[in-house]
Amino acid sequence: MELLHNSPRAFPEIFEEARKQCPVAHSQEHAGFYMLLNYADVKGAMTDYKTFSSEPQVLRPMLPRKPIPALEMDPPRHETWRAIFTGAITAKTPAAMESFVRADINRHIDGFIADGSCDLIHALAEPVPAETICRLVGIDEMLVPKVRETALAMFAAQGNPEEFARRQAAFAEVTVSEVHARRINPRDDYLTRLASVEIDGRPLDDNDYVVLLAAFLGAGHHSTTSAMRA
Ligand code: HEM
Repeated sequence: MELLHNSPRAFPEIFEEARKQCPVAHSQEHAGFYMLLNYADVKGAMTDYKTFSSEPQVLRPMLPRKPIPALEMDPPRHETWRAIFTGAITAKTPAAMESFVRADINRHIDGFIADGSCDLIHALAEPVPAETICRLVGIDEMLVPKVRETALAMFAAQGNPEEFARRQAAFAEVTVSEVHARRINPRDDYLTRLASVEIDGRPLDDNDYVVLLAAFLGAGHHSTTSAMRA
């Protein structure tokens, strides 16, 4: 079946309706894609990377760009890159982050409470995950607004390769310099670990830092904001 596009209905409702009609839906959006709609099929596809490869890209439409680390890689390359993310989030992370997240939420609420109303997505659900991930990796407090701004601008230009490259350069300028700064002044944070990590026996280069940090921001920010929107 064809999924309705530009529908104002909530995703669970669309999925429910589609699921009643067939186990696999098709959409013509983003140059066309299929969606598995039941748990068993999704689980089967996730564990069968040879049939359902994540390479070269999982996002639609496909664009002339490099793969997003881990997300758009199959084993064994996937494990190598996935290991770089491991350790950024541990069982201790929620407790360590809680006071920062609460402070961010309170600051945003303070910003709109006097108005009596707000666009909750714009005012809260979008900024808080971005700020949280910046803190999670160790972006300097002063640079958090700039990283968030350049990351959002970059993601917004994903359909336009030339504009994306320009905006990615702006994101790189602020984030890569943070990794370089940790080489000189190490801190107890993920950026410091990134500064010394090796992959396949070679140190990461600036391009690796950009794609890894963009992947982190993209994976953790869009997903979380969209989940709150839904
Ligand atoms: C509601 C929130 C979230 C949802 C619905 C979500 C969903 C997903 C999905 C569907 C994948 C692809 C899995 C696959 O291809 O097998 C994924 C991968 C990933 N996500 Fe999330 N995610 C969320 C939050 C986050 C957050 C907060 C972070 C980090 C701060 C994050 C980091 C990642 C990373 C690094 C990957 C790549 C993992 C890999 O390929 O091994 N995600 N996520």
